[in-house]
Amino acid sequence: MRTILTMLRPVRGRMTLALVLQTLGAVAAVLPFVAVAELARALLDPGGLGPGGPDPGRVWTIALVGVGALVARSALTIGAVVLTHFADNDLGLVLRRRLAGWLGRLPLGWFTERNSALVRKSVNDDVTAMHHLVGHTLLDLTAAIVVPLVSLVYLLVVDWRLALLTLVPVVLGMGLYARMMAGAMAQYPEYDRAVGRIGAGAVEFAHGIAVVKTFGQAGRAHRRFLDAADDFAAFFLAWVRPMLRASAAMEVLLSPVFMLLWVLGVGTVFVTAGWAAGLDVLPFALLALGLTAPLLTIGYSAEQIRTANRAAARVAGLLATRALPEPTHPREPDGTHVEFDRVSFGYDQRTRAVDGVSLELAPGTVTALVGRSGSGKTTLATLLPRFVDPDAGEIRIGGVDLRELSTDRLYRLVSFVFQDVQLLRASVRDNIALARPEATEADVYAAARAAQIHDRITELPRGYDSVVGQDARLSGGEAQRVSIARALLADTPILVLDEATAFADPESEAAIQDALSELAAGRTLLVIAHRLSTITDVDQILVLDAGRVVERGRHPELVAAGGHYARAWAAHERTAGWTPHPAGEGAGR
Ligand SMILES: Nc1ncnc2c1ncn2[C@@H]1O[C@H](COP(=O)(O)OP(=O)(O)OP(=O)(O)O)[C@@H](O)[C@H]1O
Ligand SMILES: [Mg+2]
Repeated sequence: MRTILTMLRPVRGRMTLALVLQTLGAVAAVLPFVAVAELARALLDPGGLGPGGPDPGRVWTIALVGVGALVARSALTIGAVVLTHFADNDLGLVLRRRLAGWLGRLPLGWFTERNSALVRKSVNDDVTAMHHLVGHTLLDLTAAIVVPLVSLVYLLVVDWRLALLTLVPVVLGMGLYARMMAGAMAQYPEYDRAVGRIGAGAVEFAHGIAVVKTFGQAGRAHRRFLDAADDFAAFFLAWVRPMLRASAAMEVLLSPVFMLLWVLGVGTVFVTAGWAAGLDVLPFALLALGLTAPLLTIGYSAEQIRTANRAAARVAGLLATRALPEPTHPREPDGTHVEFDRVSFGYDQRTRAVDGVSLELAPGTVTALVGRSGSGKTTLATLLPRFVDPDAGEIRIGGVDLRELSTDRLYRLVSFVFQDVQLLRASVRDNIALARPEATEADVYAAARAAQIHDRITELPRGYDSVVGQDARLSGGEAQRVSIARALLADTPILVLDEATAFADPESEAAIQDALSELAAGRTLLVIAHRLSTITDVDQILVLDAGRVVERGRHPELVAAGGHYARAWAAHERTAGWTPHPAGEGAGR
């Protein structure tokens, strides 16, 4: 409950007022019934009537109170609903804004596919779950508690013995419900797991269907899904069968018909025995139903509160994720010289993906990272645009640690094109101009031409206005060239580039090569090279192995040195590619 209360703080005032209105409305909802009962007494009670028959003043007062209560009840509950909906609107806005602001401060490295899905779920589902709570559930719950309480108080005043007897089915019903829920809740985790297994089976089946079909395993993959479904069905039946019995018994006990029979039965006994007057049974017939009907609402509300609480916990959990600290006193770099100073980083405690790497990128030079798959090239490169902060060591641009640069400043210094190209669902033009929205048409075209993608864009149905994912369906290589155009237009002095991206589309290899030389001109370039033939002229080559720099130098020097690189080069000469296991070396790794 505490998470929810914290989350509701921005709308606390209005929610309190709404609940007060709802409480008054609930009291007003009971009053007409009380008025009818009292009216009956005023008109019919033989003992209470004066010599001139019923007292007209008293009758009118009761009637007016009853009608007034009806009107007041509508006004109050409408007021409460309007208030909660305004509150809900504001809360949704506050939460979504908070989430958006927080997203902007997260390290880029956080945005894996899984985490992005979490954010989507939170922004949509969790905020909606809170809507039900704020807009409806709390009001329903208030009414469901106040109406029976007020009714009960009145009935106790009329005849406390009858009132207590009226409660018997209510207490029995609630007892049954509580027992049923306790049993059910104990098994809830198992239910969750069974549903999870079905989901996993279905996803696995749908996801791998192409592979499964190709390799003739359709029967087997299918089997796992069917087994999960059968298991679930068996578990579910066993789970709900006892609950069904209890729930049926409870529904009967609390049903209006049963309550009416019970009250009239008990009332008849009381009247025949002379313990109560016939008129005193009337309020019970009128109000007893109001005692049981809200119970189901309470059970239902409790479930919704639990749901909302889980949602609030997820949102709070997300918001608690550590954002990259933004410097309080950002410093201004002196030039664009880049230094990695004994930098280490590990995705987990055990292994270091980057291990004590030192390197310098002089302005205007090209540095290539090579190494077998998994050697840490991408990890090292993502440290420069601060996807994550290193665990040890420092990365400096112009003498200033990245952590002391404002994010804004950093992204005006460094741009990047990585393996998983991210295009926005926006026009191609906006995608290219992302970093410089004020860029002119001519600038955008020039960048696209330099990235060898201009002609392809003009062929799209609406040219530069085509929207990515709608009428602009781009291949992997094309999308990468769009992101190269974006980086070109961003015009940052430092560029990080994963060359693998550039060659995803073999046909355009030459075109991409030209685009890259365009990008490199006059800039500091850190490139992850997958084809040794493209880096024979670069200023320095670093060979990575298990996160460490094992060789560094220019191409001719490294070839002459006869180490990893030389062997890879020899292999490349034969097969045109970086071979991860050069002959005679790397065995046992
Ligand atoms: N998000 C991640 N979480 C955990 N470990 C990771 C993650 N990304 C990479 N690693 C691990 O870090 C090490 C270095 O990976 P990295 O992606 O930097 O290699 P790479 O040299 O770029 O490989 P490739 O040439 O295949 O792209 C590998 O052992 C890899 O399994
Ligand atoms: Mg990589």
